[in-house]
Amino acid sequence: MKLLVTGGAGFIGSNFIRYIFDRYPSYTIVNYDLVAQSGDSEQLSHVYGHENYHAVQGDICDSSLVRDTIKRFDIDAVVNFAAVTEDGVQTMENSERLVRTNVLGTQNLLDSCKALQVKRFVQISTGGVYGSLGRTGYFTEDSALAPSSPYDASKAAADLLVRAYHKTYGLHVNIARSACLYGPFHYMDACPVPQFITCAMQNKQLPELDCSLDVRDWLHVMDHASAVERVLHDGKAGEVYNIGGFNERRHLDVAELIIGLLQKSSALLPFAMQSREFKYRRYTLDPSKIASTLGWKPSYTFEQGIEETVDWFNRHRADWLQLHEQV
Ligand SMILES: NC(=O)c1ccc[n+]([C@@H]2O[C@H](COP(=O)([O-])OP(=O)(O)OC[C@H]3O[C@@H](n4cnc5c(N)ncnc54)[C@H](O)[C@@H]3O)[C@@H](O)[C@H]2O)c1
Repeated sequence: MKLLVTGGAGFIGSNFIRYIFDRYPSYTIVNYDLVAQSGDSEQLSHVYGHENYHAVQGDICDSSLVRDTIKRFDIDAVVNFAAVTEDGVQTMENSERLVRTNVLGTQNLLDSCKALQVKRFVQISTGGVYGSLGRTGYFTEDSALAPSSPYDASKAAADLLVRAYHKTYGLHVNIARSACLYGPFHYMDACPVPQFITCAMQNKQLPELDCSLDVRDWLHVMDHASAVERVLHDGKAGEVYNIGGFNERRHLDVAELIIGLLQKSSALLPFAMQSREFKYRRYTLDPSKIASTLGWKPSYTFEQGIEETVDWFNRHRADWLQLHEQV
């Protein structure tokens, strides 16, 4: 298979590339990302330079470069990880950037796949498109789309376009909506897990998140990669798959687990986090469909995955400290 992975230099895309490269050595993988890539980036150092791996620096909104790349490598399938993420816009004020990449970029990829008869298109989406739940229940693939933030709204808009290209043009598409991911190479320190780990390691007070008591469904990034692999190979045309781990944790629980693993004092937890008040939003996905139809299940328990992630940050201390200094 010849795969075009967009956004493959980021956290989730790079882990997916490593997963596919290790299991399907005969596949051609083209990593199309806005950022320049080099063999120095540890994320992809073991694939860089391999004859089946190619890096293209480009924008998914650039129609001619996307089409040239698909033609040049005779691409069979596109997996779209490229996005401006919530952390990438920080203040939420820049909705235009979100819409440009997340919506118009996806539309450009879909048009290119349609024009060049690419066999499969997988859209990497988020459970955030469903909005938030009360105390009980789970989002299924049939839940209404009710995004709460401009980022989630841009992802929901992209999902609707993807669906429409299947209904209107018969493009073989799938949408993979996932829980919150964590794991190695997550340098984005606006996300809770890397933020908690790097603060605790430096004996700094953990940040007081306005959503400290929110409940998220957590999934290890390699379990996400295995789920996307199942969808890519065997997903039924036009279907949406929720990828979750039945791993509900409040941010507070995640912080306490990390503090415990690092044997730090609970005094590092900010005041708001120590409050036990029930006041939160829940985001939890039901992954029964992908489990029953594609035979996927996660391999990590949350405790195992976080322990491994803490260990990874310990071993890569110099790298993330250097990145923090550059900010
Ligand atoms: N992080 C999570 O917990 C999570 C959960 C669910 C879904 N997702 C989705 O997974 C995908 C990847 O997220 P991530 O956490 O790895 O983010 P990331 O920011 O680490 O990676 C995104 C990548 O996309 C690239 N990119 C951005 N704009 C581009 C453009 N115009 N053209 C080409 N490349 C572009 C960036 O350079 C970056 O390498 C996103 O679509 C996101 O919505 C993330």
